[in-house]
Amino acid sequence: MGNGQREYWQSRIGLILAVAGNAIGLGNFLRFPVQAAKNGGGAFMIPYFVALLLLGIPLMWAEWAMGRYSGQHGHGTLPDTFHRMWKHPAAKYFGVLGVFLPLAIVIYYTYIESWTLAYSWFAATGKYAGITTREGMGGFLKSFQGLEQGVFTSIAAAYAFFVITLGLNVWVLYRGITGGIEKLAKIAMPLLFVFAIVLVVRVLTLGTPDPAYPDRNVVNGLGFIWNPDFSKLGDVGVWLAAAGQIFFTLSLGAGMIPTYASYMKKDQDIAVNALATSTTNEFAEVILGGTIAIPVACAFFGVAGTIAIAQGGAFDLGFQSMPVIFGKIPLGAFFGSIWFLLLFFAGITSSVALASPAVAFLEDEMKLSKKAAVSVVGAVLFVCGNMVIFFLGFGFLDEMDFWVGTFGIAFLGLVEAIIFAWIFGMIKGWEEITRGAEMKVPRVFYFILKYVTPLYLFVLLVTWAVKEGVGVLIMKGVEKPAEIYARWGARGLMVLLLVSICVMTWWAFKKRASDEGRGTKDDG
Ligand code: TRP
Repeated sequence: MGNGQREYWQSRIGLILAVAGNAIGLGNFLRFPVQAAKNGGGAFMIPYFVALLLLGIPLMWAEWAMGRYSGQHGHGTLPDTFHRMWKHPAAKYFGVLGVFLPLAIVIYYTYIESWTLAYSWFAATGKYAGITTREGMGGFLKSFQGLEQGVFTSIAAAYAFFVITLGLNVWVLYRGITGGIEKLAKIAMPLLFVFAIVLVVRVLTLGTPDPAYPDRNVVNGLGFIWNPDFSKLGDVGVWLAAAGQIFFTLSLGAGMIPTYASYMKKDQDIAVNALATSTTNEFAEVILGGTIAIPVACAFFGVAGTIAIAQGGAFDLGFQSMPVIFGKIPLGAFFGSIWFLLLFFAGITSSVALASPAVAFLEDEMKLSKKAAVSVVGAVLFVCGNMVIFFLGFGFLDEMDFWVGTFGIAFLGLVEAIIFAWIFGMIKGWEEITRGAEMKVPRVFYFILKYVTPLYLFVLLVTWAVKEGVGVLIMKGVEKPAEIYARWGARGLMVLLLVSICVMTWWAFKKRASDEGRGTKDDG
């Protein structure tokens, strides 16, 4: 090892909670309910579980295996992993995606996370207490975001919460794997579960809140999510949405899982740990996430109203509809503030994970100290975060989210599956997954990972590119010049980040080769 000892997770429970915290994010409590409601409720659940089994679990094992593999050599990001698994000069540049994607995602994720902290405060202090309609709450949100004048006359509050949130993230990262991330997970995850269970109990005991609308009740809401609808299985869109959600929620295809897994010991179990974290994530998503927002929205706005809300997206549900609902129930300020605090805890355990590959890259490849690496990443997040904040109204965030948060992760997922199962090869791959395993991994996953997962991803990606990608690429429907500039600005920023990381990778590997040539090999 070049610069000191690599850190390791201190305890097994710490590792599981940290990776679960990585996966459990805003996606579980905001994105999942919206995707489920938009895609027919129960109709969504079959393709969702199929994608979990054929894409999610196998790739999860592969990503843990890739991370542990590089970690043994003192490296924690995909440029190194791909280089080791595929002896080709281009390999490391594919790996660059595993640093670039999470960094680009966390640029806007941190801002959204800061809204949840702000709203928790607003709920507790009654800042939006007088607002009783979704439209009114929409105006509150817009004025908070500085998009129009209203309760807030400037963006100062939003900016302050962003700075606080970014500061907390930087502080956790700065304290390192065991002292920062593991400790955070051990505190935030149990609290998150307690908050979620309190909210679930509250929702389940709501009954029929308004007797004037007897069909607007929790039971119908649960029925909407859980009654399977086989007639929708022929709809390609539902399959795409389900697979996309599995990727997003399990933090796959973004290089985040490999970085966390790189802090494991050589023979430490992968099979059970990966399965435990996936199960925890699915419990949080399907049981907790599925039982809060949608049923409660059905109880107050009816099933049709809920579908309409879902069409408006995750922010409409989370930041407009939910506050209105909490305003209608006793102790709403309390429930509202724990709902947003729950989102904040879910968010921060994911945002530190999103930032981790960039930090690890600077440490392992650029040989920076932890302190310097975190400072550089913090500065990048601050500068780029300002662009997200001030160009929010012009589609800057949406443009980034499509390329990196939707398309990018599916693309990297496919690259990973091919490199792992075909280039590195399933024989060695299987050995990596099962070495130290505390359970027998069903052999069928050998074949799933080799044939089904890559093919599934390939079809997904091609269909997506045709159905949505082309429209986004040519900016269909974007007419305002300011919006066109902002979206090009977002693209420019992404290209700049991508190219910078490529250049650093080129430099790091050149240096590595010359060190090896001189016999000052610093790692295996
Ligand atoms: N899985 C986390 C979530 O559900 C983190 C995350 C957010 C994420 N956006 C992502 C993971 C995009 C991969 C790709 O919120």
